[in-house]
Amino acid sequence: MDLTKLIKTQRGGTLEAPLNILFASSEVAPFSKTGGLGDVAGALPSALAQRGHNVQVITPLYRHIDPAELSLSLRLRTLDVPRKARSQSKVEVRLWEGRMASGVRIFFVDAPQFFDRDGVYGYDSDQFEDNAARFAFFSRAVVEFARHSSVPVDVVHCNDWHTGLAPIYAKHYYGDDLGDTRFVFTIHNLAYQGVFDAKTFAATGLPKGDYFKEDGLLHDGSLNFLKGGILYSDAVTTVSQTYADEIQTEAGGCGLHDVLASRAGAVSGILNGADYGVWSPDVDDSIDVRYDVDTLNGKRQNKAALQHGFGLPVRPTMPLLGFVGRLTEQKGLDLLIPALRTKLDAITNEREGFQVVFLGEGEQRYVDALEKLQADYPKRVGVRVGYEEGLAHKLQAGSDILLVPSIFEPCGLTQIYALRYGTLPLVHATGGLADTVIEGSGGDATGFVFQDYEQEQLEDALARATSTYRKYRQWRPLMVNAMRQDFSWGESARAYEELYKA
Ligand code: ADP
Ligand code: GLC
Repeated sequence: MDLTKLIKTQRGGTLEAPLNILFASSEVAPFSKTGGLGDVAGALPSALAQRGHNVQVITPLYRHIDPAELSLSLRLRTLDVPRKARSQSKVEVRLWEGRMASGVRIFFVDAPQFFDRDGVYGYDSDQFEDNAARFAFFSRAVVEFARHSSVPVDVVHCNDWHTGLAPIYAKHYYGDDLGDTRFVFTIHNLAYQGVFDAKTFAATGLPKGDYFKEDGLLHDGSLNFLKGGILYSDAVTTVSQTYADEIQTEAGGCGLHDVLASRAGAVSGILNGADYGVWSPDVDDSIDVRYDVDTLNGKRQNKAALQHGFGLPVRPTMPLLGFVGRLTEQKGLDLLIPALRTKLDAITNEREGFQVVFLGEGEQRYVDALEKLQADYPKRVGVRVGYEEGLAHKLQAGSDILLVPSIFEPCGLTQIYALRYGTLPLVHATGGLADTVIEGSGGDATGFVFQDYEQEQLEDALARATSTYRKYRQWRPLMVNAMRQDFSWGESARAYEELYKA
């Protein structure tokens, strides 16, 4: 071990020196969030700080983030962000500084031309046309921030395609200043690669000769930001072990499996955690009644409130299924909606069957299909279209079973949250879902799992889940077991720490 890396602790023992980590993400909950990336960026930096590291977070200042309301302070020094070579076409941006609940410092890049508009990636379902320029700029700002940091940054932790160019800017322009800085790149979802027409290449500001080619930033003729992150980072991670394996196969590689395979030695999977300070029924202030494993009656009250809130008959013993998520193909709705319809069609008695509630926003075809299901079964189906953070918590607390039949799922957080709320997840055995939910008759079971992405298998799993629910002596131990699972961030933070050090 390098002795210069040892410092004295107060008690006179020794500890490895803390790392200086810059965590870069296009979403950071609670400031901005469209999905799980926001949750991760809102929690992992704090877990790393708890392990003694110096962590800073950097993210764009979107229009909805109000510096006055959040009491952010304006940094005296602005940041010059070149859009081309080392100092060409500089844009001067302001930086706002705030603190996360844990005390970790967070910096917001105030570049109105890119971020002062309604929406994070787009408005309604239309992506902004200049997303390549917006996130090339953000990536460049991350690198400039790291360069001007008063303490040398050991690790820049980049997330998803929005920050995919950062390692390239650092290596291409600042090999000297940032020579000791390592780049870790986490893929939260390989299906989103930041693919743009090759004509957009100029937006990166990078020299064509080096990167405008298939063994550079082009992939199948298009500009591909994620590929940049994969090729030019020191380490590449994704958010579960199973997904790390899946993306290196042709079937799961979304066209990039060869690129990933070329970096196989640098690719690893680290499972996300849950922030139990936010997602736990004993502390959750969005739910109607708080509860824990000893006060499960509280869950019944949340269920009644949820049924009422969705305009469904309040029935304590009727299994209540819940779905919360982006309404996209990934989330398995093409299987789920017909499976539920088949099951609902088959109900002959008012006391049989189940109720189901949906919270989501996304593609219109799914909105239409869900609204049609609700219209056909108004006493059985509740649908809320939109993004409502509080309702997502209420749905976790009030449902008996959480439906996550995704085609693929890099990690998935909703099933991890569900476990803590004693809401048993019903999942497709893929990615992080396979790594976090266990079905079986042994004492370790926590939910229901179907192996192949087929409607019949999903229907069978629905039958197993709803019939088990009706046998409380079997159900209760499953709930208790689920609630006792520990997916807190500590373990994942330790794994990232090991990776950073390596
Ligand atoms: P993904 O990142 O693929 O969207 P995850 O399961 O990792 O899936 O994370 C989804 C996160 O977004 C969870 O915190 C979930 O509660 C939240 N979420 C998704 N859709 C909605 C919605 N319509 N309203 C509120 N929260 C939502
Ligand atoms: C992505 C994935 C999801 C994962 C989240 C956070 O959006 O779709 O599975 O949990 O990122 O890593």
